[in-house]
Amino acid sequence: MNLGKFSYEIKPSPTLALNSKAAELKRAGKNVIHLGGGEPKWYAPETAIKKAMEMLETRVVRYTPVSGIPELKDAIVDYTFKYYGKKVEGKNIIVSSGAKQALMVALLAILNPGEEVIFPAPFWVSYPDMVKLANGTPVPVLPNSSDLQITFDEIKNKVTEKTKAILVNTPNNPSGVVYEAAEIEKLVKFCEENEIFLIMDDIYRELIYDGLKSPNGFEFSKADINSSYVISINGVSKQYAMTGFRIGWAVGAEEVISAMTRIQGHQTSCPSAVSQVAALGALQGGEKEAEELRRSLVKKRDILTKEIAKIEKARLIFPHATFYSFVDFSAYEKDSHKLAQFLIENAEVVTIPGKDFGIDGHLRISFCGSEEELIEGISRINEALQKI
Ligand SMILES: Cc1ncc(COP(=O)(O)O)c(C=O)c1O
Repeated sequence: MNLGKFSYEIKPSPTLALNSKAAELKRAGKNVIHLGGGEPKWYAPETAIKKAMEMLETRVVRYTPVSGIPELKDAIVDYTFKYYGKKVEGKNIIVSSGAKQALMVALLAILNPGEEVIFPAPFWVSYPDMVKLANGTPVPVLPNSSDLQITFDEIKNKVTEKTKAILVNTPNNPSGVVYEAAEIEKLVKFCEENEIFLIMDDIYRELIYDGLKSPNGFEFSKADINSSYVISINGVSKQYAMTGFRIGWAVGAEEVISAMTRIQGHQTSCPSAVSQVAALGALQGGEKEAEELRRSLVKKRDILTKEIAKIEKARLIFPHATFYSFVDFSAYEKDSHKLAQFLIENAEVVTIPGKDFGIDGHLRISFCGSEEELIEGISRINEALQKI
């Protein structure tokens, strides 16, 4: 078929492709362990389900305002004050169908064709294609240090006259690394002085352990919210285990949010009404479950650390947050695609190749599944690696 040229430039999400591969092997009767997952295997908060049920029982489920229902926006105003210390209003918020859509409409709202978006590697697999979808040019930047901390100078070295935005994801998918506050502070100052948008992808902000806090863009912003170049992206998917509800949001200057709203209005009209009330329920009463989720993830992270330590030449970059680890297996095989394929065939374990996150020689191993699968999966990886 003669499709648009652009459609061939957009790659399928590698993580979703591996999910299908794992499902296919399972159907064929293989005892596959999927250590590549991107969502907590946890229950959504009871308050979220209750709110959704209440709406469903009315049988009145209609369109909502494009940028979200006022009650949810009010709850996000409170959330932003509680977790970011930033006073904002409803007009500074857009609710979208997942953090992914919030990010996508933000890029569409700010980019002119060919303008550059810088983001540190390792990066979420979707960033390069999302930037391309918005007619921009992705500019990944590799950190020098092996602990995958990015520095302000490394990012600044990539800035050109075409730079329109810098996109930072802390805590980071796929590494679980939390960036240094001092570097983010310099970045905020630089972006605001140079009128470059700083998009902070904060989707894993609350999945953080060991007493750490992830720096947020707003805490270092000197500007009033309506003249700030910081745009924060967040949502209920990860912190409340509500990936299937598809609710995320962006907080930023009114001018940006209103442009995003115009775009979203033509894309999806509004996020799902049922999901919005569920998200409201989570924000108003889901803290207990969120805390339980955090505790369970710390336990699994510690199991993962112990198990990876048994693999002689693997090097773990210790994850203080998220439910991902990014493990350096380059002593066994430098090509992470080859290695991931080898592990599917020889260990029946699914991992995600680091190359898709911009850094080869590593694999992303998630610790969001069951403890048993984590132990068994890593032990199978260890055994298979003995053959290399
Ligand atoms: C870094 C990052 N940002 C955004 C998202 C999207 O989140 P949502 O499911 O709310 O669209 C993900 C999901 O995997 C992610 O890893």
